[in-house]
Amino acid sequence: MADTAPPIDKAYEFIFWFSVVFFVAVNVAMIYFVMKYKRKKGVKPEPTGHFMKLELFWTITPTIFIFFLFHAGFTGYIRNATAAEGATEIRVRGKKWNWEFEYPTGDRAPSELTLEVNRPYKMIISSDDVLHSFYIPEFRMKRDAVPGQYSFIAFTPTVAGDAHVFCAEYCGNSHSGMLASVKVLPREQYKEWQKTLGKKPKQCGTPPAECTNELWGAELFQKNGCPTCHGAGGVGEIGGSKSPGPRLVGLFMKPGGEMMTTGMITPDENYIRESILRPNAKTVNGYTTVQMPTFVMKEDQVDALVAYVKSLKH
Ligand code: CUA
Repeated sequence: MADTAPPIDKAYEFIFWFSVVFFVAVNVAMIYFVMKYKRKKGVKPEPTGHFMKLELFWTITPTIFIFFLFHAGFTGYIRNATAAEGATEIRVRGKKWNWEFEYPTGDRAPSELTLEVNRPYKMIISSDDVLHSFYIPEFRMKRDAVPGQYSFIAFTPTVAGDAHVFCAEYCGNSHSGMLASVKVLPREQYKEWQKTLGKKPKQCGTPPAECTNELWGAELFQKNGCPTCHGAGGVGEIGGSKSPGPRLVGLFMKPGGEMMTTGMITPDENYIRESILRPNAKTVNGYTTVQMPTFVMKEDQVDALVAYVKSLKH
């Protein structure tokens, strides 16, 4: 839960019950008048005249109600739109098809947002490709990620626990897989987590010293959402049909090479590296409909991913 939720829940409940009361009142009155004034034998209908006071009453009263309802919704909206003084800024990037979070230290975490309870936050949201929408239902919070501009949302998580990020704007094949998790940690645990920032070790395995580049690459592959386009483990299939991204299993030094739109190439380390950093430099034949987003990675992360892709054999 976050401070954004109560005003929205309150506005929602107020509008809901307001509507219920008026729905019942209007229908009861309608049924009553239908019964009272239905056609009766021997009674002649008379035309009704103009009644100015009644006309004014039922024009002005609902107008006042509408302003009131607007106010109830708008105050909550404004609260979300203004950041508290000294709020921690987090960059949120949407791309086909994952979410990436960047902390003030410069650390990037794909698909996982870690927050401290009771700390004010300001999310600076953008998109690398198409329109996405950053949506955390538990916080009653949603903001579009628009290519070419920043959008903002401010909030303070008020209860420790887990929440979920969804994409709430249809953005292509794997829109439904564009998920991330939110961890709201108590102060102590957050402090512990914070120590991992700025000098992020290779995360896989325990102890980290035993982590090979291949294992770390596998973890990065997962965390950056690569399976949403290349299939789990890079098999090039999702649910039995061709995935939006080409198959990676058996790609490295594939006998006969890999057919690109521009001709045959040998898929060596440099090709894999280029495909991660400048994905659209070369396009595999038959995969021209979806453009892979650009991933900004540190040198050692690229090395790990290359090692992982190399390890994907039949
Ligand atoms: Cu991103 Cu739907």
